[in-house]
Amino acid sequence: MIRPASVEQIREAAAQLARGELVAFPTETVYGLGANALDASAVRKIFEVKGRPATDPLIVHLAQFSELEKVADLSRLEAPERLQALAAIWPGPLTLVLPAREELPLELRAGLPSVAVRIPNHPVAQALLRECTFPIAAPSANPFSYVSPTCAEHVEAQLGAKIDLILDGGECAVGLESTILSLLESPALLLRPGAISVEQIESLIGPIKVSSKIVSASQAAPAPGMLKKHYSPRTPVYFKTEVSADSFGHSALISFSELSSSERDRFAKVIELSQKGDLNEIAHNLFKALRELDHGGVSQIIVDQCSEHGLGLAIMDRLRKAHA
Ligand code: TXA
Ligand code: MG
Repeated sequence: MIRPASVEQIREAAAQLARGELVAFPTETVYGLGANALDASAVRKIFEVKGRPATDPLIVHLAQFSELEKVADLSRLEAPERLQALAAIWPGPLTLVLPAREELPLELRAGLPSVAVRIPNHPVAQALLRECTFPIAAPSANPFSYVSPTCAEHVEAQLGAKIDLILDGGECAVGLESTILSLLESPALLLRPGAISVEQIESLIGPIKVSSKIVSASQAAPAPGMLKKHYSPRTPVYFKTEVSADSFGHSALISFSELSSSERDRFAKVIELSQKGDLNEIAHNLFKALRELDHGGVSQIIVDQCSEHGLGLAIMDRLRKAHA
């Protein structure tokens, strides 16, 4: 059930999490499906509800940096000055992979000796985390491999029958999942691009490696959970450069900027994510558009492309995965 994220509802949500139940909640990136990260049976429920393979580890959410040692074993972290420098980004859409504390449930981290951690920058997520005495494990609140939810209604539409409480905090500001960076290696390895750009990270810690999976969608996944097909609607997705104009009439177009009316008329349906190709607007509106068009009765979804700098790298990564 969707509930406005009032102070009382946030308190109720924390009580439900403490009892081992699941609660969906907003973050600045996408909505998460939360459970007490220290409760192995609650964590297993996340995998059941999402239909997620046990080999795909979850992200642990904390309210503040001082709690990091509850989940990470920083004595095993190489070059810890990188963590200190990156902490300037928190709270924010950055997830760091760090050595895990041994007592963390294995279900949570898919048996790995590492854990992915993030401090979200959303007032509801922050209030919920502060109300709980434990960290919250939360993947995106969608069935496995489908597009992530960017509002409470997206969660309700697919998982509403399986979870008791969805805290409504409106639309997510960013609209794409967090940047994931592994500090298990030197140089650090980018596992998933997001709103925190490669350029921003490198300005803090120097050169990093970008996983080959991100640069080329055809190579093998270097880390668990980095599947080729992901974030994917049921309707096939193609880049505009790949399809012949003959098929435009029964296709929907996701455009990155405003089109002329004659250009619009060539397609069965058009969604313009931004007037002038603003990357923040494109990211914010992309998943909502993919969902809407997946129910739009078209035989294919055609998408624009952008240059892979800054947020453009994350936008193109999600589109390639939707397309795969
Ligand atoms: O923005 C986000 O990150 C959202 C919100 C809810 O915080 N969460 C999210 O979680 O996108 P999820 O489950 O959809 O993606 C988690 C991914 C895994 O698929 C995996 O690629 C990576 O994080 N991951 C988690 N733990 C890891 C680990 N120990 N080593 C490497 N990758 C890990
Ligand atoms: Mg996900």
